[in-house]
Amino acid sequence: MEAEEEKKEDLVHCIYTSASTIEFTPEDITELLEKARRNNDKLGVSGMLLYDEGSFFQVLEGDPQVVARLLKTIQNDKRHDKVVKIIYEDIEERDFSEWTMGYSGASRSDLQSIDGLNDFFQTNNTFVELDEGRAKKLLSAFKDGKWRTSIN
Ligand SMILES: Cc1cc2nc3c(=O)[nH]c(=O)nc-3n(C[C@H](O)[C@H](O)[C@H](O)COP(=O)(O)O)c2cc1C
Repeated sequence: MEAEEEKKEDLVHCIYTSASTIEFTPEDITELLEKARRNNDKLGVSGMLLYDEGSFFQVLEGDPQVVARLLKTIQNDKRHDKVVKIIYEDIEERDFSEWTMGYSGASRSDLQSIDGLNDFFQTNNTFVELDEGRAKKLLSAFKDGKWRTSIN
């Protein structure tokens, strides 16, 4: 008789962008990450965060209900607004399982050198102007390839 197949974890990822309402110093980002990592560890959430010129790009991965609840909390955070969910879909496996919330301090010139996004970032666009296609390109850049090593 065949061994019973192990039930796979229900997983989603949610990718959103937002605009900060305050100026985030490196210390503010560190503080945000410390709390996020502590919470996400308890919640079984992984992901990554980018911050550039007053805008955020965040990937949250985990159980669908947990991610939905966390997104609501994050959306209510007064330190940012214009939260736009760009991608929300089921996934087979996590892309950022090593990070409870990875952070890449990629600079503007780093972003401008990402394949397929050169023009977008050269024309002074920020994360809030990303559409789904470009968000996927940005995600792939950090998911595989050399940009992955910039996440810590
Ligand atoms: C851009 C941004 C990203 C955030 N990401 C997370 C996160 O991944 N996990 C988390 O718990 N809180 C995150 N937060 C903070 C939450 O909005 C909220 O302040 C925090 O979850 C409250 O934690 P506490 O109940 O332990 O005080 C984020 C906030 C901002 C502005």
